[in-house]
Amino acid sequence: MDRMLTINIFRYNPQDPDSKPHMESFYIDETESMTLFIALNRIREEQDPSLQFDFCCRAGICGQCGMVINGRPNLACKTKTKDLPSQITLLPLPFFKLIGDLSVDTGTWFREMNTHIESWIHTSKEFDPEAEEERMDNELAEQIYELDRCVECGCCLAACGTARMREDFLGAVALNRIARFILDPRDEREEKDYFEIIGNDQGIFGCMGLLGCEDVCPKNLPLQDQLGFLRRKMGFFALKDLKRGKKKTC
Ligand code: SF4
Ligand code: SF4
Ligand code: FES
Repeated sequence: MDRMLTINIFRYNPQDPDSKPHMESFYIDETESMTLFIALNRIREEQDPSLQFDFCCRAGICGQCGMVINGRPNLACKTKTKDLPSQITLLPLPFFKLIGDLSVDTGTWFREMNTHIESWIHTSKEFDPEAEEERMDNELAEQIYELDRCVECGCCLAACGTARMREDFLGAVALNRIARFILDPRDEREEKDYFEIIGNDQGIFGCMGLLGCEDVCPKNLPLQDQLGFLRRKMGFFALKDLKRGKKKTC
């Protein structure tokens, strides 16, 4: 390990009227197993305490450290500097409100999205804290768990052409979430309830299907499969609805 890294970082503090967006270069010796989390912390500790960036878990779980790393959205804590050239450029995730430098507000967007799609199990059963947990087929539980691995990092939205053009686009992350509730037998919503939320340009019809989202998802979620699953479901639902309509008019 004898590389000197040049880390070019976007700097801007929207709270400071004198601050102007610009790039600033920092130089740092690379160490064994260095991640961008370690590099940024060293820069902040040794060179500039005002540098803003977000981290919490350092293990790819909290989804806080998404940023654009040499042109590609990714988690900084899971990115090893040895996998990058010695010139590294870091930008904040686009799409989200900038807090300062590399820090963006993903939380507000995700809270609003989860409220909009009603991201919880809808059930008429009263909650009984004494009751045994409901049984579920293992295979189905695993399918649901697979989609629940999303860490709400926002990388898929930063890579999404539609999200960059339409502020109200719900993105692959919301479609993935809806797919997860459709699979869950405890959720008593009907197909029409889901499709009222995503059967429009904000949802499935806004998606251009180029799959930037799946390419960059650091958790390797099968986002393409969910887009296909929802489109097929919506197609069948529309056909059933058409048949029902015909019967009524006969
Ligand atoms: S496939 Fe759809 S959701 Fe994914 S990046 Fe493209 S437009 Fe966005
Ligand atoms: S779907 Fe993937 S990229 Fe998008 S927020 Fe979830 S973990 Fe991040
Ligand atoms: S710090 Fe939690 S995902 Fe990177």
